Amino acid sequence: MKYNVKILRRERGGSSSFFDTFCYSSDNNADTVAAMLTALNFRDELLDINGEKKRPIEWECSCLQKKCGACAMVINGRPCLACDAVLSALGSKITVEPLRKFPVICDLTVDRSIMFENLKNLRLWLRSDADINDKCYSLNYESSECIGCGCCLEICPNFYAGGKFFGMAAVPLTMRLLTESEIKECKDTAKLYAKHIFAGCGKSLSCKNVCPKGIDTEKLLVNANAAAVWGKRIK
Ligand code: FES
Repeated sequence: MKYNVKILRRERGGSSSFFDTFCYSSDNNADTVAAMLTALNFRDELLDINGEKKRPIEWECSCLQKKCGACAMVINGRPCLACDAVLSALGSKITVEPLRKFPVICDLTVDRSIMFENLKNLRLWLRSDADINDKCYSLNYESSECIGCGCCLEICPNFYAGGKFFGMAAVPLTMRLLTESEIKECKDTAKLYAKHIFAGCGKSLSCKNVCPKGIDTEKLLVNANAAAVWGKRIK
């Protein structure tokens, strides 16, 4: 199958973006956007559809197995993982853009450090031995599936980098801490959660169907809100 691939690019240190369009052919129905980007960069000469020479496309990846979150980008308008986005399911015209909620470093590579700084600011550590019961296990397992890709923040109408609202990406770990601790032990985290997540969430739940790991974000939010705001732990 032949694909026409538009990629939004930016020079390192630049402030304006531009599209380059490439042709890509593949007979492999399992080929992903990650495989396509790799193949384009492996060409002896990377030429766009007009035959103009282009520099290799910058993008990030590590595991190529939906485990690290590094390859998160916007593909045909939807935030997802390049290593999980199968070309044949995307149609013959594909648009690839960087996540828009974070500063662009170059091409499809963005700086998501604010997301990790927000996690640090929530003081997510146990102050005493974990206190968990059987009912926490499946919820905590689900929260451990989060790979910190940032897709949930990309789709959220309330999140912007550097804002007071930390967004869904901060919920899984906070929920886990709050369900594994006596609330009195982590009052500070509960307070910070109320300020930086509960107060800013518009409950649009746009994050609900976008998580590449299939995390039920609503379920995690409900339990984290209950613990942080009303002091109710899962019993
Ligand atoms: S490269 Fe790790 S999730 Fe895609």
